[in-house]
Amino acid sequence: MNQRALVEAAWAMLPKAYVPYSHFHVGAALLTADGEVFTGCNVENASYGAAICAERTALVKAVSEGKRDFQAIAVVGGRDGVVTDFAPPCGICRQVLAEFCGPDFLILLAKSPEEIRVFRLEELLPEAFGREKLSE
Ligand code: THU
Repeated sequence: MNQRALVEAAWAMLPKAYVPYSHFHVGAALLTADGEVFTGCNVENASYGAAICAERTALVKAVSEGKRDFQAIAVVGGRDGVVTDFAPPCGICRQVLAEFCGPDFLILLAKSPEEIRVFRLEELLPEAFGREKLSE
């Protein structure tokens, strides 16, 4: 799958975001190692801290379906679902992605289907805390 198609899959999730508090819609599309795509949107809650981001929605959907190997995620977002800028993943999402994705996992941010910035996970989460820190 090409980068633009993954971005478009993320874009298609914007109307599904449940965002009565922030009005900031986020869509994500996660590409598995075997070429499947799992999408997600953010889902907010009256208890604000209970909100889940679009990236983690997509990841949890995929893991709960038995997927654990991933190539890339596309993320788009904007107020009222209108994308005017890049929407980088929050710190919690970077950490949760790092649980399953290696340093070369790609994060695609887009502000239009043509304007795509690509980062490696290691660039967005250097010196990550991972499972290896827990032993010894
Ligand atoms: N949000 C995401 O879905 N992903 C991120 O990585 C950053 C923030 C959501 C959470 C909340 O619903 C809204 O954007 C405003 O913070």
